[in-house]
Amino acid sequence: MLSALKTKIDNSLYRILLIRHRNDSYPIASRGIQRLITERFYNEHVGSQYNVNRKMKEELIKQFYLTTANVETATSPIYHIVMALEILSIPPEVEGDIIECGCWKGGSTANLSLVCKLVGRRLIVCDSFEGLPEEEERLMHHYPHLKVYGYYERGMYTAQLDEVKENITRYGDISVCKFVPGFFSETLKILNSQIVFAFIDVDLGSSMKDCIKYIWPLLGNGSKVYTDDSCDMEVVKVWFDDVWWNKEMNQVAPGYVGSGCGLPLSPKLTSLGYAVKVLDPAKDFNRVSWLSYPDEEKVK
Ligand SMILES: C[S@@+](CC[C@H](N)C(=O)[O-])C[C@H]1O[C@@H](n2cnc3c(N)ncnc32)[C@H](O)[C@@H]1O
Repeated sequence: MLSALKTKIDNSLYRILLIRHRNDSYPIASRGIQRLITERFYNEHVGSQYNVNRKMKEELIKQFYLTTANVETATSPIYHIVMALEILSIPPEVEGDIIECGCWKGGSTANLSLVCKLVGRRLIVCDSFEGLPEEEERLMHHYPHLKVYGYYERGMYTAQLDEVKENITRYGDISVCKFVPGFFSETLKILNSQIVFAFIDVDLGSSMKDCIKYIWPLLGNGSKVYTDDSCDMEVVKVWFDDVWWNKEMNQVAPGYVGSGCGLPLSPKLTSLGYAVKVLDPAKDFNRVSWLSYPDEEKVK
């Protein structure tokens, strides 16, 4: 009853706003999409296996906004909600850690750490803590959907480990975090535990390759790797590079959901997307009427 009333009020408000902003529908559409995502997050089945209820989710979202309002962060709370939804949907009996590569000042880390606390998983936090490394060769990064291009420099996005720890202590839960400082090409070799979810936000194709090389083998069937580089063709193309995947990972490239313009979390574009490790689509995915299956007898 109460929720029906709320929906009615929401719809009326939405219509009023729509009329007021006829010439600027972007903020309205944006809020509409974000509301849909939040509603999905609030679905009672999401997190129920971890005894996470609606009130806890509301607190979590409030905290996500508080963190990003106080810590300079390269990703937005709605991205953190989408990743929280994914993490809360992993069955508790699937053992493993969550990993973040590329934390900068720890804004996304603080928020992920709160989710990890709720689900009782460790958060492995990997970063040089001295910013980006030199790119192997100076590459032009281009974002066709944004009509933007540019370059990265060594040391961009630098934050010291102490600053990151301070931010996580203030806005997240540092008790679940294990820090792995240093450049990925050296440090990620030490990873050996099962990983159930990864967030890779590292800006460079070479850094992305280092992360994939060491993290992908530790993921189980169905595990997802979210990244924040969907619109950057130089980085997202790694997920389609069959030559590299065959040579380094002994499999074909898995592809990437959201390549070029990101997941539909905003009317314009987002930088969030993901790859999923699927061992055997024929075992895990559904059959549909608009595709053909050679092993099926044709019905006459
Ligand atoms: C865009 S920032 C991450 C932003 C953060 N996730 C957020 O939401 O605020 C990119 C981070 O990746 C790290 N990084 C990139 N390449 C790296 C590498 N090869 N080894 C270690 N750290 C790297 C940088 O130090 C930087 O902190």
